[in-house]
Amino acid sequence: MQLVTPSLKWESEHQAYCKEWGPSKMIPNSFSLDGYTDYSVYLKALRLKQKGSEHWVPNSNYFLVNGEQKIVAMVSIRHELNDFLWRVGGHIGYSVRPSQRRKGYGARILDEALAKCKQLELGDILVTCAATNVGSAKVIMHNGGVETESHRDENGLETRLFWIKNG
Ligand SMILES: CC(C)(COP(=O)(O)OP(=O)(O)OC[C@H]1O[C@@H](n2cnc3c(N)ncnc32)[C@H](O)[C@@H]1OP(=O)(O)O)[C@@H](O)C(=O)NCCC(=O)NCCS
Repeated sequence: MQLVTPSLKWESEHQAYCKEWGPSKMIPNSFSLDGYTDYSVYLKALRLKQKGSEHWVPNSNYFLVNGEQKIVAMVSIRHELNDFLWRVGGHIGYSVRPSQRRKGYGARILDEALAKCKQLELGDILVTCAATNVGSAKVIMHNGGVETESHRDENGLETRLFWIKNG
């Protein structure tokens, strides 16, 4: 089991993950292939996005790959927090492939991401989840997350905020 960076090698696996994910909004969004007919164009856009821009803070993105070279989960690490990330997104966003859930990969990818955050010297890490997302809250608490607050947006959707000591 290891984290790998997106590259042409993972094109068909990435596409299979998206197919399994279905039509709902991809989490993390940086792995969405919507609008890209050519994978190398997606990779180029991702590389640019990772450097940061007006709307995107610098970020790193990884697939969690198992021994059979199957992508089981995905993670995006934001190197700093903007207004939105302070309130809703946090430093780390992740998802587990639908067919691979409830096998510990959620907890595993957050653990691996925290090691990357340490290498990047990001300090303590903010991780969030929707109040309805029981599985994600457990993943965060399994990794030492301490809930500090929660807030509700204008549509009434509640987000729980957790900090993980990672300095
Ligand atoms: C949330 C998510 C990452 C969990 O991944 P996972 O691989 O199933 O999680 P794990 O197997 O590591 O499970 C961790 C714990 O959560 C529990 N859990 C996982 N999904 C659950 C669910 N839907 N309801 C209740 N508990 C759940 C597991 O039983 C386990 O608990 P335990 O250790 O006490 O037995 C996965 O469901 C997912 O990708 N969801 C869609 C994207 C998403 O919500 N990302 C997080 C954004 S904040």
